[in-house]
Amino acid sequence: MKILQTILFSLILFLSPLSTHSLSLSTRSRWIVTSSGDRYKLRCVNWVGHLHAMVPEGLHKQPIKAISASVSSMGFNCVRLTWATYMFTRPNYTKLTVEESLDQWGLKNAKAGMAENNPNVLGLSLWEAQKAVIDGLGAQNITVVLDNHVSLPKWCCGSNDGNGFFGDEYFDPNEWLLGLSTVARRYKGNPTVVAMSMRNELRGPHQNQEDWYKYMQQGATTIHKENPDVLVIVSGLATDTNLGFLKTRPIQVDINNKLVYEAHWYAFGNPPDKWLYETNGFCGNVTQWFMGQSGFLTNGPNPAPLFLSEFGLDQRGGNEADTRYFSCLLGHVAEMDMDWALWTLQGSYMLREGVFEMEEFYGMLNANWDHVRNSTFQKSLQLIQQITQDPTSNSATYQIMYHPQTGQCVQVGNDNIYLSDCKSWGRWSHDTDGGPIKLMGGGGSRCLVAAGDGLPAAISGDCSGQQSMWALVSGSQFHIATKDNQGNFLCLDWDSSKSSTILTKKCLCLGSDSKDVSKCEDNPQRQWFKLVPSNKI
Ligand SMILES: *[C@@H]1O[C@H](CO)[C@@H](O)[C@H](O)[C@H]1NC(C)=O
Ligand SMILES: *[C@@H]1O[C@H](CO)[C@@H](O)[C@H](O)[C@H]1NC(C)=O
Ligand SMILES: *[C@@H]1O[C@H](CO)[C@@H](O)[C@H](O)[C@H]1NC(C)=O
Ligand SMILES: *[C@@H]1O[C@H](CO)[C@@H](O)[C@H](O)[C@H]1NC(C)=O
Repeated sequence: MKILQTILFSLILFLSPLSTHSLSLSTRSRWIVTSSGDRYKLRCVNWVGHLHAMVPEGLHKQPIKAISASVSSMGFNCVRLTWATYMFTRPNYTKLTVEESLDQWGLKNAKAGMAENNPNVLGLSLWEAQKAVIDGLGAQNITVVLDNHVSLPKWCCGSNDGNGFFGDEYFDPNEWLLGLSTVARRYKGNPTVVAMSMRNELRGPHQNQEDWYKYMQQGATTIHKENPDVLVIVSGLATDTNLGFLKTRPIQVDINNKLVYEAHWYAFGNPPDKWLYETNGFCGNVTQWFMGQSGFLTNGPNPAPLFLSEFGLDQRGGNEADTRYFSCLLGHVAEMDMDWALWTLQGSYMLREGVFEMEEFYGMLNANWDHVRNSTFQKSLQLIQQITQDPTSNSATYQIMYHPQTGQCVQVGNDNIYLSDCKSWGRWSHDTDGGPIKLMGGGGSRCLVAAGDGLPAAISGDCSGQQSMWALVSGSQFHIATKDNQGNFLCLDWDSSKSSTILTKKCLCLGSDSKDVSKCEDNPQRQWFKLVPSNKI
């Protein structure tokens, strides 16, 4: 009996992987949850593996283990790893080893670098190399969303590049389904691969809704049949910016609470002047646009998770319009506590659009893949990298005062407020627009009050005076304003040149009626404070 028990016990040990266990994610309302019902927030970074050589970028710069460790240390828990259909469907692509594929594209330096940094990868087949990357990420407890990015491996996404929509030159629907089912099967039972997104940025002159419904439904069913554990991610039309048509005609697939939607949100196509001179109104309008195109899916009678699977900017910070777009977006993503994937991890590409070793200025890592490109930018992600809304928690909801321009949170001092990292924050309650902002906890009523133009905002027992009454103003709704004794608007204001203390000052870009000024030369974003609901303990 004893012996039998020992044998059984060793068998169990042997059969269950020790470090990794499947999270087996599914959806509950608008949240992604684990099998034990806890929320699992996708806070991912994209990692490109769909370019010509079909090898995840950077393996000639750093060992897989080091790159995976950087992903984790930068605060991401997941990677959206891109792949090309042909790698799984065309014999002359599938049969290649990494070395042969690099040779075909004349990637001599990459080959030499890989021999140094990941010597065992060179002799692997392309899919074994992909799996080695996935296993490396899994070893750091990072999950993977496999994203079908293109059919013919190359840089994405021109509107006439043959990869844009079902029926395009390289985009045969049956071959696409074959690719999805092959990948789903290969990773069945793999605890690291938690989701598959069906196709990146559908686009171009042939896009139409009829085919969209037909193939998204087929694709979802195909993946689910092969691999019922993974989440299936549905992407929209118009380069993944439009799912608005689902308002009137929902998608018909029953895959057991595994369906998630994705959307992209960049500043591309927005007139820079709008961001620069009408920052408040434009932020409000663009946010409304996003909600109407895809954000609405998280609301209403049948809410579903929405994965913001691409957004980002040139991290050198030289493009002021992009910088303003980004803090508008951050405020909104924080408010919704959305699942997301930042574009992007890679600091460089082996070969992109004919250029060898092209640097990626949107990349979290530098061109050598050994340092964070911009640690200021990295810190600005600190709030959205946390779970602020926990659907299983019983604790009451309060509000965090968030400053998207810096990505910092408002903390409470003795009798003032200041910006700090989002490791902790003041908890506020602002029940009525135009009413007091109360500090929660600590007993007794303490409220936010304005002491005057240019003076620190204070915490006081006065919760009913005029200067304790706060309203959200401007088209962005990001200004928190009160009125002084003369009836002038004063806004919360963070002046970077002084300290982290928050003052009240004349509202920027707002007229005396609190409406947006039409052509504003100031940057109002230092006065942007977003009230973010949270029930985090
Ligand atoms: C595979 O074969 C096709 C058709 O001959 C060719 O166009 C393509 O370049 C080949 N691809 C690779 C990776 O060998
Ligand atoms: C891995 O991540 C899961 C989900 O977030 C977490 O519950 C678990 O504790 C993590 N495991 C390790 C070893 O960090
Ligand atoms: C925002 O949208 C409204 C309504 O469509 C429009 O009148 C206004 O000009 C827009 N503002 C900006 C800054 O684009
Ligand atoms: C880092 O990004 C910030 C904006 O987030 C920008 O102001 C700064 O110039 C960037 N620094 C470098 C070294 O690129």
